[in-house]
Amino acid sequence: METKILSTSEYDIELAGKILADGGLVAFPTETVYGLGANALDEEAVKKIYQAKGRPSDNPLIVHISRKEDIVPLVKEITPKAQALIDAFFPAPLTIILPKSDKIGNVVSGGLNTVAVRMPENEVARKIISASACPIAAPSANTSGLPSPTRAKYVIEDMTGKIDAILDGGDCEFGVESTVITLATDIPTILRPGAVTKEMIEKVIGKVEIAKAVLEGMKNDEVAASPGMKYKHYAPKAKVVIVNADKTEYEKFVNTRKDAFALCFEEDNIHIPKVTFGKNNDDLSQAKELFDALRKLDEMGAKKVYARIPNTNGVGMAVYNRLIRAAAFDIIDLKKPFTIGLTGQTGAGKGYIGKYLAQLGFTVLDSDKYVAQIYENNFEFLKKLQAQFGNNIIINGKLDRKALANIAFSSKENTQKLNHIVHPEVMRLCKKDADGLTVLDAPQLFEANAQDECYKIISVTAPYEMRLERIMKRDKISKEQAQQRMNAQLDEEYYINHSDFIIKNNGEDIKNQVDKIINEIL
Ligand code: TXA
Ligand code: MG
Repeated sequence: METKILSTSEYDIELAGKILADGGLVAFPTETVYGLGANALDEEAVKKIYQAKGRPSDNPLIVHISRKEDIVPLVKEITPKAQALIDAFFPAPLTIILPKSDKIGNVVSGGLNTVAVRMPENEVARKIISASACPIAAPSANTSGLPSPTRAKYVIEDMTGKIDAILDGGDCEFGVESTVITLATDIPTILRPGAVTKEMIEKVIGKVEIAKAVLEGMKNDEVAASPGMKYKHYAPKAKVVIVNADKTEYEKFVNTRKDAFALCFEEDNIHIPKVTFGKNNDDLSQAKELFDALRKLDEMGAKKVYARIPNTNGVGMAVYNRLIRAAAFDIIDLKKPFTIGLTGQTGAGKGYIGKYLAQLGFTVLDSDKYVAQIYENNFEFLKKLQAQFGNNIIINGKLDRKALANIAFSSKENTQKLNHIVHPEVMRLCKKDADGLTVLDAPQLFEANAQDECYKIISVTAPYEMRLERIMKRDKISKEQAQQRMNAQLDEEYYINHSDFIIKNNGEDIKNQVDKIINEIL
């Protein structure tokens, strides 16, 4: 099929309207993204939209109108809240969902009994709809699954040969699709955030909810309030990972990545290949650039992309909502003090792995060293120990470690008391020294309740006999003493159930196991 490229001239707008009225497909600009239009009342024409996009047939389309009153025949009833939204916002990047009238067929509505309606703000869009003299069903004019097109050239890339015409109206103003709100539920619910924000809507109709799927991934068996939310969306070919970090942390992290691209803000100081999406603290600029940036990354051949996290309020919620879908919900959380918590059974070979992680460039904090340090010369800490375990543990102002061990390990209760004093102090000091990509190497990570301070937890396990031998040799102790120590620890199952990754140190290539895990984490 030959695809005509049209301009915004009166003649071409009339022509676009005529093609639509005759059952053809025309892509046209709106203030959000380019839409791929067909006569919404012509089921055969609408079917062609799904074909051209490769869109699943259960994902309904938005019906576009050019005058407020044109919504009336499309819906069962205009509720007071719907009327209030129409009065306050239309024309706008806002789509409202209401129970549908008999005029709306099952192809447009994806088999649902509701219909989504929007009156675009973009004047060219309204002129085209008006010229067609029919309501226009129009999803974003991209191939299904790719980022929505914010420039005509992307529509040309995706749709040439598949549709009748593309009307080039320049770049889209907002760059993310309209806010979608359903009024067909008890409490109005935002199914997709856009440039008309929750705050703006609540000023007009009171409390609205945000559908859970807007900011979180959906479980496989969950039913989507909006079918579009269940598909992996807006995805470039590259693997995108969002980095939850402030500017400095982000720069530091990204600048040490190899073979990767940064998807960052204009102000960010980045030394690897990058594409920017707007300015920090300017959510409108981020919205406008995001989809364009995702497409550019593909053009540049990016395979792995680390994206800066946007704020999630105002229009930022729309930006974040699109970006986490592009990233398939993959977020590295560097806001936690420790990137990796490294723990495991005594004698399993944790120390070796800690050393290897240091070679890989991580800051590795050995909690045992901090314990030794506070026993050595932390006066405040010694005073606490003395208050708990008596004056006998201090001799000449110095800790008598043997005396302390005798009391502290005489009963489970005393051991716990000691831990309650030691662990918080060790954690406080480790957190102070955490810097960028940091590993907390702590045999008692779970006992110290440090799991929530770590982004990912790696536990090391090894066969019993192997550990026993290692401990006896390392600490020069008897078999019985070694067994006693091992029995006082958490069992293997606990580590397996509470860790993100398990390294089995049974003689297999450890470095290879670590490399694989780090590759997955970062
Ligand atoms: O800004 C926009 O809304 C653009 C421009 C072209 O107007 N259009 C657009 O359409 O983004 P589309 O099809 O890409 O996204 C429409 C979204 C989908 O997630 C769809 O599942 C949802 O709206 N939707 C449509 N009708 C619905 C309904 N009756 N109930 C629930 N969700 C609906
Ligand atoms: Mg779309």
